[in-house]
Amino acid sequence: MKSKYILVTGGLGYIGSHTTIALIDKGYKVCIIDNLSNSSIDVLKRIKKITNISPDFFEFDLTDASNAKTFFKKNNKFDGVIHFAAKKSVDESVIKPLDYYYNNIQSLINLLENINTDVKFIFSSSCTVYGQAEKLPITETAPLKKPESPYGNTKKICENILEDKTKIETKLSTVILRYFNPIGAHPSGLIGEDPRNVPQNLVPIITQFAIGKLKKFAVFGDDYPTRDGTCIRDYISIMDLADAHISALEYLFSNKKNNIYNVFNVGTGEGKSVKEVIDSFNKVSGKNLQYDVRPRRKGDVISAFADISKAKKILNWASKVSFDDAVLSAWNWEQNK
Ligand code: WQD
Repeated sequence: MKSKYILVTGGLGYIGSHTTIALIDKGYKVCIIDNLSNSSIDVLKRIKKITNISPDFFEFDLTDASNAKTFFKKNNKFDGVIHFAAKKSVDESVIKPLDYYYNNIQSLINLLENINTDVKFIFSSSCTVYGQAEKLPITETAPLKKPESPYGNTKKICENILEDKTKIETKLSTVILRYFNPIGAHPSGLIGEDPRNVPQNLVPIITQFAIGKLKKFAVFGDDYPTRDGTCIRDYISIMDLADAHISALEYLFSNKKNNIYNVFNVGTGEGKSVKEVIDSFNKVSGKNLQYDVRPRRKGDVISAFADISKAKKILNWASKVSFDDAVLSAWNWEQNK
């Protein structure tokens, strides 16, 4: 059987590169579009080193309508699309809201305007759309709150755009994946999270602090109403997260219906506190991190972890990598890169 051809936008980024490898491992043919704004061409070489296959690669910015038009005129044989390409810094989005609205929304519109609409579409969304949920674990039917940041709002708006477009395109099927907190790296140690600037997320901050790249590390608040006073999140291994995209594609390809719109949480279902993350890091690295406690960070929700029963039942997907192993893979990557 001919391999299905999947377009991966932002395929050289953190989640995109791991998903590209998972796709190639499953026998899919991959085409990457990436503007290299927050990624490196070196990742393409590393994907080849890991898989022995060079995916098709096109460097351009999807926000440019004429670029998009020219590209899709020549290349429109895709069976599926996984759309990762987006700006993702919460803090930066507060300072530059228009950049975020323009970039994240325009690129999706250009994609939808030019691609064949009989495609299977997977969109990279975030648990940030839930804000502080009233009930835990969070199900997909939890009411969406006003996002704390323009970044979060772009995810919500893009979900709405896809839902509306899927309603009128009888052959378009869409899955929205709402990621919780991705961590870790590929076991080869060749690819992982590689933020260009100072990292903003807990695990890369911890690993960079442990290796000496960052001079300070503080826990933001230990007076929250949680089991140890620190915030709780659902940290999902990047390898499991990459696999969730394969499961979502398989669900769409194997479904008799060809006009589906469905939303899934992608997490482990288990919450870990900031202190538990530090304990795990100390355990797997043999270190004993010395940290300060600072006031609460603005905009932080107290606790968020996923109900993953829908993904289990419909996508036949669940996380497999243990929390400690995911933390260890992040540490191995930090020491390797
Ligand atoms: C985790 C916990 C911090 C740094 C981000 C995005 C969100 C979504 C998920 C993409 C919090 C604490 C952190 C530090 C700390 N991303 N912390 N010291 O808060 O869930 O949110 O990722 O869609 O939009 O905002 O993840 O990794 O930033 O923080 O104590 O130096 O670690 O306060 O409790 P978060 P995070």
